[in-house]
Amino acid sequence: MSSVPATLEWVGDAATGHLRLLDQTRLPHQVVFLDCRRLDDVYQAIRRLSVRGAPAIGMAAAYGLVVGLQPHRTAEAEAFRRQAHLLAQHLATSRPTAVNLTWALQRLLTLLDGLPRELPADELHQRLWEEARSIQHEDEQMCRQMAEFGAELLADGTGVLTHCNTGALAASRYGTALGCIFRAFEQGKRLRVFVDETRPLLQGARLTAWELLQRSIPATLLCDSAAAWLMRSGQVQAVLVGADRIAANGDTANKIGTYAVALAAREHGVPFYMVAPSSTFDLSLAAGEQIPIEQRSAEEVTHFGSAHVAPEGVEVFNPAFDVTPARWITAIVCEKGVIRPVTTERIAQVLRQR
Ligand code: MRU
Repeated sequence: MSSVPATLEWVGDAATGHLRLLDQTRLPHQVVFLDCRRLDDVYQAIRRLSVRGAPAIGMAAAYGLVVGLQPHRTAEAEAFRRQAHLLAQHLATSRPTAVNLTWALQRLLTLLDGLPRELPADELHQRLWEEARSIQHEDEQMCRQMAEFGAELLADGTGVLTHCNTGALAASRYGTALGCIFRAFEQGKRLRVFVDETRPLLQGARLTAWELLQRSIPATLLCDSAAAWLMRSGQVQAVLVGADRIAANGDTANKIGTYAVALAAREHGVPFYMVAPSSTFDLSLAAGEQIPIEQRSAEEVTHFGSAHVAPEGVEVFNPAFDVTPARWITAIVCEKGVIRPVTTERIAQVLRQR
């Protein structure tokens, strides 16, 4: 099956173990692992995109909290609880858009707050570690389920365009949108896969193209600016992308450039699918305008790798994400089912299912 190493794994036990991340900033040329033994190691890894992709940063943050609480296992239980809330608050500031990050941290805190007051700190810590592992295990199951639903949307011979990276690197093992493509190939379908390079950080060129080739799936890489013209040529029958946060009405934040792809898909009558687990929905936000959009550094745009390509002093606009309106999304594939049409009512109905 996959020759892509696990994007993240816990090594050892709760008390003395650590989080091992595959450093995605070094791919595709080097496969290097980062051993995170302190909360700040995880925080910085999330910020600089060594670990990235909404589900992956949720899992990394959960394990980051576990790492950060290791020195507090011998503290008084109440002090341990207070520390957990403080560290989680800090971790939540590492990246603002993907809701999976705060979702995972909140899940750990909710568990902690519900545990009996008489439990000692080391026992509380052990339970948090088990919960972080459950999040990872469930993510893998959700990815497999989404892949089943998503693959059904792709007939043999379909030309599929994807943007950013939504594979095993961005989630556990299989991925979201890319997982549907992997599954379709496992079913013997021959798709034509087109990969947007995804400027400025090239998640498509560096990561998605690499994952596909690691699985011996042929892929065609294109500049983001070529996507609309590719659709015009009639070679794309479906667009499949992931998501970082989906508001209650279905407006969806994803990697910058997704909005333009959706716009072109609409003009050319190409179905546009979002693939995301229930942990990516934020029903507390009514619509996409309320989703916080991460702004990243100017250097990501003024430089290409280490080469400085823009004149000194130029102003830069570098949002990491954009928001695609629900009305342009043909369907959202989630582990609970395919949400179609994308409306507040249908989203609430599908997410309520067990
Ligand atoms: O900035 P990134 O690389 O973390 O952005 C990732 C994306 O936009 C992905 O499409 C999204 O997180 C879905 S990953 C399964």
